[in-house]
Amino acid sequence: MINIALPKGRLGEKVYAMFEAAGYECPSIKEASRKLIFENEAKGVRYFWVKPSDVSIYVERGAADIGVAGKDILLEYSPDVYELLDLDIGKCRMAVAAKKEFYDDNQRALKVATKFPNIASKYYSSICREIDIIKLNGSIEIAPILSLSDVIVDIVETGSTLRENNLEVIDTIVPISARLIANKASFKFKTADIERLVESIKAQVNRND
Ligand code: PRP
Repeated sequence: MINIALPKGRLGEKVYAMFEAAGYECPSIKEASRKLIFENEAKGVRYFWVKPSDVSIYVERGAADIGVAGKDILLEYSPDVYELLDLDIGKCRMAVAAKKEFYDDNQRALKVATKFPNIASKYYSSICREIDIIKLNGSIEIAPILSLSDVIVDIVETGSTLRENNLEVIDTIVPISARLIANKASFKFKTADIERLVESIKAQVNRND
């Protein structure tokens, strides 16, 4: 049995569709319910719906053998897992954004609001810019509007949240997409099963482009 952590939400549904098309279907998952665990014994798979930012925790600790996590989470938390495949879905970018009239006064530390303090710190240390991190948990775009911060480091997908709040991207840090990850011990003990699954999923990547 392969235990698979799927990210709850729209991305997770796309991910499950890829697994289904790859031959790892589990019909009960489509029945509307509040259940979080679904199993297809014949196919040797058990799926769990978890919060997207928790997938890598389940996989790192072996509660799931594999899972799908955004590259943003992998960069921020550096879980000790194998990254097996770029699924090329859930595409967006990690970017620095600010108010249109933003001017960078490099005489003082830049106030950076973000849900991703590690990614932001690493980026600013790579360009030798002193910063003051303000860790928030959501609605990051409000921070520069209320002068809580000078800039934000956040995910930009369509750009509409920035546009509607009169902010603009000033730098792109890294492109992001969903990655198939594996627990290291599971990969060792279930190598053949996991590799077979990865090959079948690989055949689904970019299938609908
Ligand atoms: C994410 C991100 C941006 C928005 C970007 O927020 O933090 O706010 O999506 O998408 P866009 O470029 O297509 O507008 P999320 O919806 O996860 O909510 P949050 O405010 O709770 O972080």
